[in-house]
Amino acid sequence: MENLKLVLPTLDMEKEALSYRQEYIDYGETYIHGSAGLMKEEDYKLWVEKITYARTEKMPEGLVNASTYFAVVGDRIVGTIQIRYRLNEFLLNYGGHIGYGVRPSERRKGYATEMLSQALEICRNLGLECVLITCDKDNIGSARTVMKNGGILENEIPREDGGITQRYWITLK
Ligand SMILES: CC(C)(COP(=O)(O)OP(=O)(O)OC[C@H]1O[C@@H](n2cnc3c(N)ncnc32)[C@H](O)[C@@H]1OP(=O)(O)O)[C@@H](O)C(=O)NCCC(=O)NCCS
Repeated sequence: MENLKLVLPTLDMEKEALSYRQEYIDYGETYIHGSAGLMKEEDYKLWVEKITYARTEKMPEGLVNASTYFAVVGDRIVGTIQIRYRLNEFLLNYGGHIGYGVRPSERRKGYATEMLSQALEICRNLGLECVLITCDKDNIGSARTVMKNGGILENEIPREDGGITQRYWITLK
């Protein structure tokens, strides 16, 4: 899919970013996966500053460096994806190296599969050899996205909320 690109969010993308967020709200969704909290952040400029810090500066104890990208097709943001550079205890069990979301109106067009494929290339360039991706057992679309990118299920971990987290590894070689 040549037309989809992962780009680092910039201040001039505010209008598109806010409309991306608004669409989730309009569809009744309360969380934007792979967006580093874009749903909750009131000030777009602050959000850009925060994700830039997380990419470039030393993080406080317990937090890991990460890069957050917009997936764009032309001028339109179709998804968000975050790459965490290493795993802490929580990420090892539940969060994984990569989180992603596709805006509701753009789902089932192959975008998540392509976003993950491009993110894995970035992981390769970061020197990662194995990438962990987790998803809820009920999230068939996400599980398919991971498996289509070479994910092998390691195990399933029950969560306190009663759900089950599946843990998949992708080997980059
Ligand atoms: C999960 C999500 C990222 C998938 O994005 P997408 O762009 O629709 O995925 P793709 O179009 O690349 O589809 C990947 C595969 O999953 C399948 N799929 C996607 N959504 C599906 C659904 N709701 N039910 C069943 N299969 C689904 C597709 O058919 C495709 O498989 P196929 O090629 O074998 O047919 C998207 O639904 C989303 O953003 N959900 C909310 C956030 C989320 O769950 N993020 C992941 C957290 S781990």
